[in-house]
Amino acid sequence: TQPAMIDPFGRHVTYLRVSVTDRCDFRCTYCMAENMTFLPRKDLLTLEELDRLCSTFVAKGVRKLRLTGGEPLVRKNIMSLVRNLSRHLETGDLEELTLTTNGSQLAKYAKELADCGVRRVNVSVDTLNHDKFRQITRWGNLGKVMEGIAAAQDAGIGIKINAVALKDFNDRELPAMIEWAHGQGMDFTVIETMPMGEIDADRTHQYLPLSVLREQLEEQWTLRDIPLKTGGPARYVEIAETGGRLGFITPLTHNFCEGCNRVRLTCTGTLYMCLGQDDAVDLRAPLRASESDELLTRAIDDAIGRKPKGHDFVIDRTAKPSVARHMSVTGG
Ligand code: GTP
Ligand code: 5AD
Ligand code: SF4
Repeated sequence: TQPAMIDPFGRHVTYLRVSVTDRCDFRCTYCMAENMTFLPRKDLLTLEELDRLCSTFVAKGVRKLRLTGGEPLVRKNIMSLVRNLSRHLETGDLEELTLTTNGSQLAKYAKELADCGVRRVNVSVDTLNHDKFRQITRWGNLGKVMEGIAAAQDAGIGIKINAVALKDFNDRELPAMIEWAHGQGMDFTVIETMPMGEIDADRTHQYLPLSVLREQLEEQWTLRDIPLKTGGPARYVEIAETGGRLGFITPLTHNFCEGCNRVRLTCTGTLYMCLGQDDAVDLRAPLRASESDELLTRAIDDAIGRKPKGHDFVIDRTAKPSVARHMSVTGG
């Protein structure tokens, strides 16, 4: 076994997020512009190469692997990668293999995912109103996503619903969404919008600080902080009245970088050490240069040694996005 990945601030890197494609079948207005230029397919790593990269990270101490995108389930043959990676669950080297998905293809893949040892998935749902869902995703079909969620639950997969809190879009609806999720036995997480990539809307209008939402919820419900640790950045409360768990992801109002345990890989083999920074290390060249993992391991060690202390996100009226790339490049 190899030495653990520990960054200059003493943080252990045990969580790898992999954006398997920058493409998506939706165009959520806070995430993407309507017209996006996606990477040419020839620039993508093959699924075999992605497997080799992920497996190298597992050998170096990654215990949690999350496939993201874009939308991970639109990548051709994605299940062959999931199936191959599931061997690390069987050996016990990996504790969790999971996905963050928009749910549009989940009905088709739920059973197979469960067969591969996927026990939980995170599904993004920003509204339960069919018209508003079409509006925010630009053409998505909420009914299809609901079918996907039901299929995943039938297959025994646990679900966490992710909603980005958007002022004047879903802020008034969030309590009803939380009740719905908890009624179905699902966790729910609210997320502050992050200034990543140019979009057609103005993020200063969309931004809702979650400290404000929390105060509103406390007028209605009893929130109790709980020590739930999923490996992700959310801080959780339990709501007495619904009996369910609610997570807050607050990069802007309450920075959680000191507990960061993750790095992120793009579908072209670039490793970003922070979601909110531009510094990155290319792993494709060392991957392709040799069959042995020596160069690759060295490049990863170099990257971990450069992991920054935290993100630079700010939301203000004049500023360009803090980070030029879209969330879909690094998968959140
Ligand atoms: P769990 O395993 O359920 O805790 O998942 P997670 O919250 O780690 O992952 P998910 O893909 O559901 O991400 C939810 C939101 O958290 C997304 O908007 C991500 O962009 C955001 N997120 C995840 N990791 C980080 C991080 O390191 N920094 C910031 N700023 N946001 C993050
Ligand atoms: N800020 C915050 N969350 C975002 N997501 C996509 N773009 C942004 C953004 N700019 C969310 C999606 C999904 C998760 C992976 O990231 O809604 O839940
Ligand atoms: Fe696609 Fe998710 Fe971005 Fe929406 S938020 S466009 S579903 S990647």
